[in-house]
Parts: sequence; structure tokens; C-alpha cells
Amino acid sequence: MRSLMVVLMAVSSFPACVSELKGVILDLCGVLYDSGEGDGVAIPGSVEAVNKLKASNLKLRFCTNETQATREKFVGKLQRLGFNINVSEVFPPAPAAIAILTHRGLRPHLLVHDGLLPEFDGVETTDPNCVIIGDAAENFSYQNLNQAFKVLIELEKPLLFSLGQGRYYKETDGLKLDVGVYMKALEYACDIKAEVIGKPSQMFFQSVLSDMGLQPHEVLMIGDDLVSDVGGAQSCGMKGVQVRTGKYRPSDERHPSVTADGTVDDLAQAVDMILSHRGH
Ligand SMILES: *[C@@H]1O[C@H](CO)[C@@H](O)[C@H](O)[C@H]1NC(C)=O
Ligand SMILES: *[C@@H]1O[C@H](CO)[C@@H](O)[C@H](O)[C@H]1NC(C)=O
Ligand SMILES: *[C@@H]1O[C@H](CO)[C@@H](O)[C@H](O)[C@H]1NC(C)=O
Repeated sequence: MRSLMVVLMAVSSFPACVSELKGVILDLCGVLYDSGEGDGVAIPGSVEAVNKLKASNLKLRFCTNETQATREKFVGKLQRLGFNINVSEVFPPAPAAIAILTHRGLRPHLLVHDGLLPEFDGVETTDPNCVIIGDAAENFSYQNLNQAFKVLIELEKPLLFSLGQGRYYKETDGLKLDVGVYMKALEYACDIKAEVIGKPSQMFFQSVLSDMGLQPHEVLMIGDDLVSDVGGAQSCGMKGVQVRTGKYRPSDERHPSVTADGTVDDLAQAVDMILSHRGH
């Protein structure tokens, strides 16, 4: 009997609404570049794709979970990879957290990566009345975690903010535990629930939309994370398109609760589809 070989071809699809499009929000890691040793590597075609979007009259913002470095350092890395991006276009969780602290009169104890500390330079941290946890990577020592625990447990009402809640992420040398794992440890120890700042929180996406001055239906989000990028954007009323780069897995296309409005091979294809729809 001859064996039957079935070749599955990845079919790309795109939402039809893009003719009304006024803005695009891009995820960074896994869409523009893959992280790893040094600066990481740009995903083929993505530098040109960002340039094409910038040359169109669409508004463009970048939305990231990055919490290991300040915005300036992070944008410097992207510029070295060849991307034409400036600091005011990039939305990481730390500035959103600072806005919340200011608004609510809170003084944080910081359990974050040493590289992120300068972002909090103007923030009052003496006599803390909450804890902020970010992806501290090698700074997640027993001592640092235990110190954050002690601050929390001594508060009358322990208040924990987490910059994202990822489980793990991939770098070129392998998988790495993300902030969500340590957030859960502190939640468990103190019997509390953290407030998550960053994707997929609606408040986070909303702050990007208001900076763009656009309505959700006028904006498209492009990301590699089906739940946090695509699902998060959809829950705010935006369309969400997934790229087959970064952490994408084929099973995402049969996910039980999130269905992307479109799926494309990479950012370059997404941008070509956006611009060709708009051309008509
Ligand atoms: C940075 O980006 C913002 C938003 O797109 C833009 O208004 C500003 O002019 C840009 N600044 C520079 C120096 O390119
Ligand atoms: C964070 O980690 C770096 C590198 O291992 C180390 O030099 C630094 O002292 C650590 N900082 C804290 C606050 O633990
Ligand atoms: C970003 O955060 C979301 C959830 O908040 C998580 O699912 C995702 O893995 C995170 N990505 C990275 C690169 O940490």
C-alpha cells in the first residue's frame, strides 16, 4: 500500500476591516526580533516592515512586556538592530506602573532587575506600602524574594503589583522562568492576588490607545502571543493578528478560547497585507 503524504500548508488570513484602519500596535519580542545573547537578532523583513508602516499615514506604537531595562536602554538595543523607533513610541509596563503609584499615592518596595531601577528614579521608596515585582532574572535571589515577602506580610493590606505575568519566555540559549512564577510565590505566601500591569490588561492597552488618540475599532494589534497580544487587544475592541514567528505554535490556530482575526507568516507579510488593502 502506498503511504499517503499530506502536506499541510499554512494559510494566511487577514481581517477585511483594514480599510478603516488608522493605527497599528506592534508587540516587539517575537515580532520584530528574537531575544538572546547581546541584542538578539532582528526577524527577517521586520526592519523594512516598520519603515513601510512609518512611511504610511498610520499611527504606530510598540507595546512590550520588557521589564529588565529602562526604555532608553531597550530602545537603544532596537536601534542597534536597525529599527527606526524612538522612546516615546514604546510602551512597557514600568511607566504605566509609575502612573498608578502617583495616582494612588503609593510608595513601592522594588523587586525588579537592577537594569530597570533607573526608571523609578523619581519615585519615593522609603517606608513602602506596596511591592512591585518585575522580571528580575538573576536578581530573583532567595534574599530578594524574602525581603519583598517581609514587606508585604507586614502591611495591614498587602498590595502587590506585577509587571506582566508571563510563565516563561524563550531566549536563544533556552527557556527562562518569567515574572509570573515569582508573583505566584508571593501571592501564595501572603494569600493575596496581585494586580497585573501590562499585557493583557485592558487598562494597559487603553493607555496606548489614548496616547494614539484613536478608537479601538480603528486600531490593529499584531503579536506572537495569542492570549496576551491578540486576546488582550480583542477584549478592548481592537482586531488582533497573530504572526507565525516568536512563540507562535501551530496549536494556537485551534485554541479553544482565542481566535485571531488573522494569521500571517511574519510582520513583513502583515504589513504588505495592510498596505495593499489600503491601496484599494
Ligand atoms: C517619536 O515618535 C513620536 C510618535 O510617533 C513622534 O511624534 C515624534 O516626533 C518622534 N520623535 C522623533 C525624534 O523621531
Ligand atoms: C543583581 O544581579 C547582579 C548580577 O548578578 C548583581 O551584581 C547585583 O548585585 C544584583 N542586585 C541585587 C539587588 O540583588
Ligand atoms: C507577556 O505577558 C503575558 C501576560 O501578561 C505573557 O503571557 C507573556 O508570556 C509575556 N511575554 C514575555 C516575553 O514575557
